Amino acid sequence: MLGMRTSNDEAVAIGPGVWWIGALDPDLRSFDIILKTANGTSYNSYLVRGSEGVAVIDTVKKEFAEAFFARLESVADYAEIRHIIINHLEPDHTGALPELLRRAPHAQVYISRRGQTMLKALLKDEGREYIPVQTGDRCSLGDRELHFLSTPFLHWPDTQCTWLEQEQMLFSGDLFGCHFCDNRLFNDQVGDFRFSFEYYYAHIMRPFKQHVIDALEILDPLQPRLIAPAHGPILRDRPRDYMQRYRDLSRPRLRNELGEGEKSLLIFYISAYGSTTAMARAIYAGVSEVEGVRASLYDLEGSEAGPFVDLIEEADALIIGSPTINGDAVKPVWDLLSSLVVIDSKGKIAAAFGSYGWSGEAVRMISDRLRGLKMRVPHEGLRLKLIPTDDELGECRAFGKEMAERLMGRFTAPKEIDYADLV
Ligand code: FEO
Repeated sequence: MLGMRTSNDEAVAIGPGVWWIGALDPDLRSFDIILKTANGTSYNSYLVRGSEGVAVIDTVKKEFAEAFFARLESVADYAEIRHIIINHLEPDHTGALPELLRRAPHAQVYISRRGQTMLKALLKDEGREYIPVQTGDRCSLGDRELHFLSTPFLHWPDTQCTWLEQEQMLFSGDLFGCHFCDNRLFNDQVGDFRFSFEYYYAHIMRPFKQHVIDALEILDPLQPRLIAPAHGPILRDRPRDYMQRYRDLSRPRLRNELGEGEKSLLIFYISAYGSTTAMARAIYAGVSEVEGVRASLYDLEGSEAGPFVDLIEEADALIIGSPTINGDAVKPVWDLLSSLVVIDSKGKIAAAFGSYGWSGEAVRMISDRLRGLKMRVPHEGLRLKLIPTDDELGECRAFGKEMAERLMGRFTAPKEIDYADLV
C-alpha cells in the first residue's frame, strides 16, 4: 500500500483551527470507470472550528466513512457541528453524509441552489431541508465566516467553492483536484503529481473550459493562501500557480491561423478500397470553393485520435466519412467519436458520408452520434454505393459546398416546386 496513515486516523491540521479529516484510497485503479488512477486517490474533507461551532466541508465515499469519522472525532464532538457544507454532491463526497447527519442531527446543510433537489433525491430524504446558497451568502462560525461562491458545472451543475476569509483558504471541491494518493497531503511534500493534475483536468474539467474561466474570474481576486481541493494534494505552496495552469489549459492552444471572419472545417475519413477517400477529396474540393472557410482533410489511418480531438475542439465544423463494414462504421471512427466526450462540441456543424456495398448503415450511425454530442447535423449525410461515378463525385463536391455555406450562414435551400401549383 502506498504510504498510508491507517495506523493513525487522526485529523491533520492545515491551518489554525482547520483540519483535513478525509480518507485515503491508495488501491483505486479506476474512478467513475473512465479515469485511470495509477496512484489511487483521496477523498478530502475538512473541518473548520470557530468560536461558535464547527463546520464540516464535504464528506467521503461511503466505504471510507470509518477513517473519516475517526479523524473527525479526533478534533471535534458531533454536538459541536453546526454546519455541513456540500461543495459537490457526487457520492465520493456525500457517501458519509447520511451517517454524519445521524450523528450530528442539528447541523444545517448548505448546498448550491442547483444541488439541493438532487441531494434530496440522492439521499432519498425528501423531508430534510437544506439551505440553498450562492455567491454572497455566508455562514458564521462566530469569529470566522465561510463565504459561498457559485462555480457551477465544474464538473456537475451543483458545484460550488467555499472561502474561509480569515485564513484565505479556498475549499474548491473537484476544482484543482486530482486523483493522487499520498499521506504527506501537502503539495510541497508529496510525490510528483503533475501528471495526475493535468490528467484530471483533461478528463474532468476540459469539457467545461468556459466555466473554468468564469470560476477563475471569481476566484482570482481572492488570492488564496491555500487551496484545499476534494481530491489529491492540498495546495499550500504557490497555490496561484495551479490557478494559472488552469487558465492556461482553458485557453486555446497555438493560435489557429484563421483570418478575420474565417471559419475552420475539418474532414476526417477512412477508406477500405478508396471509394470513401475519393468522396472525401471531392467534398474537400467543394468546401474549398467557399470563401472564408479553411478546410482540412485527414485520413484517420494516419493518427491516433488524441491530436484530432484537440483540432476538433477548436474547429467550427466537422465532416466524418466511413465505409460500412459488417453493418457498422469502422473502429477508428468510433474511437474518434468516443474521444469527443472530453471536449465541448455543442453547436458545431457536422455531417457524415461514406461509400458502402450492401447496407450502408455507417452514415446514419455517425450522424446519430454527432447529434448525441449536441452538434448541429443539418444534412442527413451522403451515402454512395460502391465506387463513385463522376456524377456522384460532383454530388460530393456539392455536399461539401453546401456544408461550408451552411457554416458561413450563406446556404439557401433550393426551392421545392409543388407541381400542383403549376396546373
Ligand atoms: Fe470528486 Fe465529481 O466528484
